[in-house]
Amino acid sequence: MRLYINLDHVATVREARKTDEPDPVRAAVLAELGGAQAITVHLREDRRHINERDVLLLLKTVRTGVNLELAVEEEVLEFALEHRPVQATLVPERREEITTEGGLDLGEAKRQRRVADAVGRLRQAGIRTSLFIDPVEPTIRVAKELGAEAIELHTGEYANAARDAREGQLVRLRRAASLGREIGLAVHAGHGLTYENVTPVAAIPEIEELNIGHSVVSRAIFVGMERAVREMLELVQAARGRLGG
Ligand code: PXP
Repeated sequence: MRLYINLDHVATVREARKTDEPDPVRAAVLAELGGAQAITVHLREDRRHINERDVLLLLKTVRTGVNLELAVEEEVLEFALEHRPVQATLVPERREEITTEGGLDLGEAKRQRRVADAVGRLRQAGIRTSLFIDPVEPTIRVAKELGAEAIELHTGEYANAARDAREGQLVRLRRAASLGREIGLAVHAGHGLTYENVTPVAAIPEIEELNIGHSVVSRAIFVGMERAVREMLELVQAARGRLGG
């Protein structure tokens, strides 16, 4: 199991004042010291937090790897193809949303063609490519048909579920993870995971990577980035330890 730390919201604090601190590049050094196995950032079309300078410096300085989240849009795709992060995660993007609200829509043939084209170009450039999708069977099967190597299961509905609905959401994630693995996809997960809700998701044996941002950056404000990441890593490893894997 790999723990990837999303540092978008370090840049959100910086952009609140349009200044040069806090710097996500510095945060990345500390996140790696805390045990992050890669750094994830989302280069949004409106550049509301992470910008090109951040990604370019992260690509030069991060020792583990950079997972770049991006929309299926020509401008950011070309940026990714030129600068080649280890991994690219294709995500939906709407300007009015506060955060990525749902998984990629792979319903219409036209969208499928656009996603397949992006996946093909990214893979050709040697970039491991993942699709951020809702944990539903048809979408998982389409992701495979479009050529993705990996899927990232959207855990937002699980994270937002009322206590009595949580088990149902977990069952959904477990089924999705097992289908993904069965048809030959690497299975990742993320969105809305916190120190309180991460354990049952981390315990799903088919999930090999978690992407966690907001909760870790929030905790880092109080305890520091290195410790916040280490504490999350300990929870994730403990969940796997219980499975003996
Ligand atoms: N995975 C994806 C694809 C995302 O877009 C995000 C949010 O940027 C995350 C994971 C991390 O979500 P959170 O910040 O809620 O941990």
